[in-house]
Amino acid sequence: MQTIKIDLASNAYPVYLGQGLLSDQSLWQRHIGAGKTLIVSNEVVAPLYLDALKSGLNDRNPEVHIIPDGEPFKTSETWSGILDKLVVMGARRDAQVIALGGGVVGDITGFAAACYMRGIRFLQAPTTLLAQVDASVGGKTAINHQKGKNLIGAFHQPAAVVIDTATLDSLEAREFNAGMAEVVKYGVIRDPLFFQWLEEHVVDINSREVAALEHLIYQSVLNKAEIVAEDEKEAGVRALLNFGHSFGHALEAETRYSKFLHGEAVAIGMVTAARLSESRGLCSQGTTGRISKLLTRFGLPVTIPAESSMEGLRDALDLDKKAVASGLRLILLTGIGKAIINDDSHPDEIIAVMKHSLGRERAGTKE
Ligand SMILES: NC(=O)c1ccc[n+]([C@@H]2O[C@H](COP(=O)([O-])OP(=O)(O)OC[C@H]3O[C@@H](n4cnc5c(N)ncnc54)[C@H](O)[C@@H]3O)[C@@H](O)[C@H]2O)c1
Ligand SMILES: [Zn+2]
Repeated sequence: MQTIKIDLASNAYPVYLGQGLLSDQSLWQRHIGAGKTLIVSNEVVAPLYLDALKSGLNDRNPEVHIIPDGEPFKTSETWSGILDKLVVMGARRDAQVIALGGGVVGDITGFAAACYMRGIRFLQAPTTLLAQVDASVGGKTAINHQKGKNLIGAFHQPAAVVIDTATLDSLEAREFNAGMAEVVKYGVIRDPLFFQWLEEHVVDINSREVAALEHLIYQSVLNKAEIVAEDEKEAGVRALLNFGHSFGHALEAETRYSKFLHGEAVAIGMVTAARLSESRGLCSQGTTGRISKLLTRFGLPVTIPAESSMEGLRDALDLDKKAVASGLRLILLTGIGKAIINDDSHPDEIIAVMKHSLGRERAGTKE
């Protein structure tokens, strides 16, 4: 088992990483307080891993609350269902909630824990690659609103994150690959050696070789931990984690969240941001190609679908713009492993680069 400490000014917590940790009683014992325990999971993950987690909690007799599967259920209704459960079971301030599942379960459960009695203890047991390398660490919790993703939420750090790498065995390839987009992101924005390691281990990773998985999760969490420790509430450097995300979010919105998984949209977004950086002369020629090649080897898309509406994408980006007073904030690259925050990109310049990123597979010029 490996441990990474998330060192925040307000508190610190461990991220544990290893095979079979869900049923590790001594591990859970360290972090479960005297009060009642509620496990929140969903209808896909619970049949697979609830028994393992229950055996790890041994004699604690946890209550269980199962929510429906998927992003469409990351709503205030589902969130209030968790709160109702806590009320009915008579949970007090010393209670704890464990999220067992992907990022959806983690975000919604964390937000319920943040609100119940103004905040109770919360633990994460992430079961998707994306949740293990990204969503479970850093304390962002949220639910969606009809008008936008993650519009309602809070910062609420977990007391511990328990990553059982064995849970990845059952994850569909497409979901696994989407998680790899965020993994590649850490290499691109701040860890060139890790990027190179990924290039050298594509085969091991794609065959989910345990040592390779553990290394890549460890290195990803470490990168996220360092960024979050520096900037817990996203006042500065944490924004680098949004590399590829402005374009990614625009694509997700333009395709009504139905065509791409988040990581897939981010993969296209990262290539687009790299291309913009390259076209501005910020980074050397070939940087985009190298990133795009690696993402492709992880089964990720790298071009904007040919049928995309440029107007729709532009609108979605403009929406993003309103969020930052100083203009459209983008994360650009000065090289692999070196990202910068940029506030002076012009929408027309961005549209030109996006047009260049339009799917060209049909013309036989796949990057
Ligand atoms: N809080 C943060 O910092 C942060 C960061 C990134 C993403 N997010 C959020 O995370 C969510 C996306 O997370 P996700 O990609 O994990 O999606 P998800 O939670 O929807 O999980 C993807 C699918 O895999 C299933 N699943 C989960 N674990 C499994 C397993 N071990 N085996 C088989 N199937 C399994 C789920 O039931 C679901 O159907 C989004 O809502 C996003 O906003 C939050
Ligand atoms: Zn992301």
